[in-house]
Amino acid sequence: MDAVKSFGGKYATLVAKHNCGFTTWPTKVNFKDVAGETVPYNYTIAQSPVHGKDVIQSFVQSTDKYGFGHGFYYSVVVNNYLNVQLAHVRNETAAPGQVGITTDVYNDIVFEQLEELWGNYGNLTEIWFDGGYSGEQKERIQALLHKAQPDAVIFNGCQDDGTCVSDKSIRWIGNELGHAEEENWSTYVSITWLKRNDSN
Ligand SMILES: *[C@@H]1O[C@H](CO)[C@@H](O)[C@H](O)[C@H]1NC(C)=O
Ligand SMILES: *[C@@H]1O[C@H](CO)[C@@H](O)[C@H](O)[C@H]1NC(C)=O
Ligand SMILES: *[C@@H]1O[C@H](CO)[C@@H](O)[C@H](O)[C@H]1NC(C)=O
Ligand SMILES: *[C@@H]1O[C@H](CO)[C@@H](O)[C@H](O)[C@H]1NC(C)=O
Repeated sequence: MDAVKSFGGKYATLVAKHNCGFTTWPTKVNFKDVAGETVPYNYTIAQSPVHGKDVIQSFVQSTDKYGFGHGFYYSVVVNNYLNVQLAHVRNETAAPGQVGITTDVYNDIVFEQLEELWGNYGNLTEIWFDGGYSGEQKERIQALLHKAQPDAVIFNGCQDDGTCVSDKSIRWIGNELGHAEEENWSTYVSITWLKRNDSN
């Protein structure tokens, strides 16, 4: 947070789950594996040496303390723990440690974990999909966004065909170097803002 403050940042975005599938919050989600058995999503902070902590919660407390907004990264198209690439369970035998599921079950897990992340940790300034989302996921994600985080801006919220999951989608700056050429803006048209200013 001191680093964010030092460059005049207004909010911070934390990785809640990257492609490996490990969640930095203790998710409560259970699901049916390919054998039909209900099992816990047990690749989380709760099974790690720092069990008992919720890194997401600590992060939100820190951003609040500094008066910053907060956001989360959660990749919805890759999960190595569940053998998922491109939003589909791979057609290959699960490696040791991976849990076999169907793609439908995978999409339920994504949705339920997003419900936890978007429902239990306050208002998000920014949400990162990274790698986008699949057509099968779009409708539910869109509805949940609308219900739980209507004001968040969405990184990677548009598909190649130009359709977006939110009217507040923002784009990649085009490199991984951490800076963009000046001036280079990614703007969105906020329906909320338009409504508020309707009378003008
Ligand atoms: C997690 O769940 C899997 C599948 O049920 C099981 O094989 C594994 O032992 C569990 N791991 C932990 C740390 O509980
Ligand atoms: C999965 O791969 C095996 C072996 O290559 C193939 O026989 C099978 O048809 C594939 N299944 C699907 C659903 O693609
Ligand atoms: C979250 O945003 C909504 C408006 O979308 C507002 O009503 C609510 O008070 C905010 N909650 C917090 C904790 O800031
Ligand atoms: C801004 O960044 C985008 C994404 O890399 C790029 O396509 C665009 O050309 C850039 N615009 C300017 C004016 O540099």
